[in-house]
Amino acid sequence: MPANLLLLLPALAAAAEIHYHDTARQSQLRDSDRSYGRTNGREATAEYWANEAAAAISERKKRAPDNGGVARNIVMFLGDGMSVPTLAAARTLLGQRQGRPGEEAQLSFEAFPSVGLSKTYCLNAQIADSACTATAYLCGVKANSGTIGLTGAVPRFNCTASTDRATHVQSIAAWALQDGRDAGVVTTTRITHASPAGLYASVANRNWENDAAVTSAGHDTNLCPDIAYQLINMSPGNQLKVILGGGRREFLPVNMTDEENERGLRTDGRNLIEEWQASKRSQNVSHRYVWNRTELMELSSSPPDYLLGLFESNHMQYHLEANNVTEPTLAELTEVAIRSLSRNEKGFFLFVEGGRIDHGHHENYVHLALDETVELSKAVARAAELLSEDDSLLVVTADHAHVMAFNGYTPRGSDILGPSNSIDDNGVPYMTLSYTNGPGARMQTNGIRPNVLQDSNYGATRWRSHADAPLDSETHGGDDVAVFARGPHHHMFTGLYEQSQLPHLMAYAGCIGARSRDHPHCSAAHALTSPPLTALLLAVATLARAFGLLRL
Ligand SMILES: *[C@@H]1O[C@H](CO)[C@@H](O)[C@H](O)[C@H]1NC(C)=O
Ligand SMILES: *[C@@H]1O[C@H](CO)[C@@H](O)[C@H](O)[C@H]1NC(C)=O
Ligand SMILES: *[C@@H]1O[C@H](CO)[C@@H](O)[C@H](O)[C@H]1NC(C)=O
Ligand SMILES: *[C@@H]1O[C@H](CO)[C@@H](O)[C@H](O)[C@H]1NC(C)=O
Ligand SMILES: *[C@@H]1O[C@H](CO)[C@@H](O)[C@H](O)[C@H]1NC(C)=O
Ligand SMILES: [Zn+2]
Repeated sequence: MPANLLLLLPALAAAAEIHYHDTARQSQLRDSDRSYGRTNGREATAEYWANEAAAAISERKKRAPDNGGVARNIVMFLGDGMSVPTLAAARTLLGQRQGRPGEEAQLSFEAFPSVGLSKTYCLNAQIADSACTATAYLCGVKANSGTIGLTGAVPRFNCTASTDRATHVQSIAAWALQDGRDAGVVTTTRITHASPAGLYASVANRNWENDAAVTSAGHDTNLCPDIAYQLINMSPGNQLKVILGGGRREFLPVNMTDEENERGLRTDGRNLIEEWQASKRSQNVSHRYVWNRTELMELSSSPPDYLLGLFESNHMQYHLEANNVTEPTLAELTEVAIRSLSRNEKGFFLFVEGGRIDHGHHENYVHLALDETVELSKAVARAAELLSEDDSLLVVTADHAHVMAFNGYTPRGSDILGPSNSIDDNGVPYMTLSYTNGPGARMQTNGIRPNVLQDSNYGATRWRSHADAPLDSETHGGDDVAVFARGPHHHMFTGLYEQSQLPHLMAYAGCIGARSRDHPHCSAAHALTSPPLTALLLAVATLARAFGLLRL
């Protein structure tokens, strides 16, 4: 930078400072904004905030100290694309739905005692995708973008390289199964999508969800089996006790339609749903395949040993748009999975994904992205009710961020889905939540942005917030994501660390895997001291529900 420009900097900064806080720019929007600056009178006193802090201190003191015991059960919740700004915006939406200003609200897991940050970059990517991150947070290894369950020795798309077994890495679900625990997976996306696939698949391309995708890329499915095939016919997929999500089409042949008249995608003639049932029959174990909410709820109180639920041909619907007769909520899926897995005295590992937060953001459908986040929060709340803090570790995190910005100087209590109260330099309103890129970009006229408040579908669920760079699909973000933890060894999750540490931290807390023998808390004496509190809680919850005290 030239020296004369450097001399100018302080003056520029001063000008900018005035500019940033130019109240004269606050537009007429202020008057039309019903909730402008809404605060509760008590909040304007010092006493209110001192009391708020005192209550927080006493809550923290009441927290059961980390008992240093063993996490018999582990549930990992993943909000796909749940960036830190997404959390702040979703909690505000939640609070506003309850008739409050909203900013002071709390998502269920925001009350967890430990919070950390994870670094999400992948081996060859500054900004990650959901495949390499799944390999990191489930298998404990950073890898190449687009690959799942393989080390960084395998480049994306290279089937040949992935046939070397030495490149295959296993997930914490496989580690838990080897220890005699049960494992399960729940998602709102196709069950063969990148995040859940991280639990059970090793594949050089996340898009190889069915055999046709592998063969059309010129590869042999005997060398590189597709993700759906791996789930049904290979380990650890074929040992999972609970498999709940969408994606029926990946399991059915092209000449067959499913229960909702959608065609399959497989060209190998296999019906993998039938194969799953046949395999359980031959093992003489109780099992059920279900495709709708009614069936799922009917078996909720006494689930079979093995449960496969596929509720859509593709991804499950966004919660705000779903048919609630055929589609269960994420909280309902989570409860059934926990009830099923809790029968193993040795404990379990469950992975639960709120997978469509990511899709909402990619479309710039900010309302949908936030609502899916609230749904994840409800699922975590359900798990926290059902599982004791003494023997069950809950971890909530995201795979990567998104580029939604929470911006402006919007007054307290303003509609989180509405405009900022100020206008841009051309007098045009902008939204409190907008994106740096995506399909919501609008053509400008003479360098001036259109007024999106005048869109005919403004306020609709599928209204796209505005974006800067036009892109078919909004991109992920490279920022760190939050990690929330509750239960044994929750404090291990504080700090700022590589995402690939997560399964190792969970295995440490749960005494899972060969390395756990080195940890004092994993000695047999320790492991046997905690009573099966979770079993007790589940029994109480069942009774409460029988008496209509707990809504399912
Ligand atoms: C794929 O991997 C194999 C074995 O590692 C290697 O020989 C080959 O050159 C790679 N192919 C491509 C297209 O990179
Ligand atoms: C689908 O095609 C296979 C052969 O590829 C055949 O065996 C099967 O009967 C067909 N199923 C239906 C429902 O047409
Ligand atoms: C299958 O399981 C049932 C109930 O557990 C048992 O009664 C039956 O003998 C078993 N059949 C075979 C062939 O093992
Ligand atoms: C759910 O599935 C069962 C079994 O296929 C079917 O009998 C029932 O009608 C379905 N319920 C709904 C609401 O579609
Ligand atoms: C399903 O949706 C309908 C209509 O929106 C609503 O009245 C009903 O209470 C919902 N049922 C459940 C179980 O959420
Ligand atoms: Zn994504």
